Amino acid sequence: ARVDKAGHKHFMAKEIAEQPVVIGDTLSHYLTDDGRDVVLPGDGIDFTSIDRLTMVACGTAYYACLTAKYWFEQLARMPVEVDIASEFRYREPPISARTAALFVSQSGETADTLAALRYCEPHAQTILSVVNVPESSIARESNLALPIHAGAEIGVASTKAFTCQLTVLLLLALKAAKDRGTITDDRLADILSSLRGLPALINNVLEQDTTFRKCARLLAETDNVLFLGRGLMYPLALEGALKLKEISYIHAEAYASGELKHGPIALIDKKMPVVVMAPRDALFDKTVSNMQEVMARGGKILLVTDGPGAKEANEGVWRSLTMPEVDPILSPILYALPAQLLAYHTAVAKGTDVDQPRNLAKSVTVE
Ligand code: AGP
Repeated sequence: ARVDKAGHKHFMAKEIAEQPVVIGDTLSHYLTDDGRDVVLPGDGIDFTSIDRLTMVACGTAYYACLTAKYWFEQLARMPVEVDIASEFRYREPPISARTAALFVSQSGETADTLAALRYCEPHAQTILSVVNVPESSIARESNLALPIHAGAEIGVASTKAFTCQLTVLLLLALKAAKDRGTITDDRLADILSSLRGLPALINNVLEQDTTFRKCARLLAETDNVLFLGRGLMYPLALEGALKLKEISYIHAEAYASGELKHGPIALIDKKMPVVVMAPRDALFDKTVSNMQEVMARGGKILLVTDGPGAKEANEGVWRSLTMPEVDPILSPILYALPAQLLAYHTAVAKGTDVDQPRNLAKSVTVE
């Protein structure tokens, strides 16, 4: 079927706006009717016979894997290895028999990711994939393909596929935690209930579009932006920087907040905006002290946090964006929205070709 922009200026804007609906769809495919348990397609997978998870992908899908590593480790107490497909395939990594290998790809056709899958196939116990195109090569060559149900994604910069990938990966981590007996029934029920409430929170963020547009106008004036995050917000900082450079051509880098003083702090001056993604979670105070190090050197902080975080840490910051409060385990899905909206509006302010950025292809089917 032909996909149009449905009244939006760009496919990317449409795809950002669709997220409450498509994430709701994803959830409806992976939850029982009462919403209280996770169901996987086909025969599913039993994580009791699996000791390790190896996740491989490229670009945004790789950042989804990096996020999922925190989930599988924390919730399912499972050792996880994550790599970029182009590195993984030539490293000749040993794969033990009780390993599940998981490949994440929107298109399901990325050459390096497919090659990595073929490398694992003879060794791993099972090949899993998280894809948007169910008839793709990566899906076909997997033992179990988990579709993300995001619908066609046309914009070269991935948006809704990322948040749907995260949703499926979190559900899979919950299934693993249940199989391995590492999560209580109460905690599982809590997370599932927060997930069901997520589309409404995303709508709330979308309603603040004008605020993001105003902030982005300021970012459009700069040549360099740093993104910082800790824990689950670190992979998201990487994704925020990738989004911004892909479509606005502004040089952006991301660091784990704690790495700042090991080098990148040398870059800080009054021209350098630093986007800090930091919900008021267990690591918040540590991130705030990293923020203060930046401000003490004249750096400009754009703080993306929630109400309690803003109350505690807004002093001295350049700009602040307030997000709804959410269970910290889900924060990467919700905080993907400010990352996308800032990049989108910055690119629009700069007048770049948002849906077809220079030098990029939607699907990289050559090495
Ligand atoms: C994301 O905005 C990108 N354009 C790119 O990094 C993409 O995520 C990557 O090429 C992987 O593509 P895939 O998900 O189709 O495998």
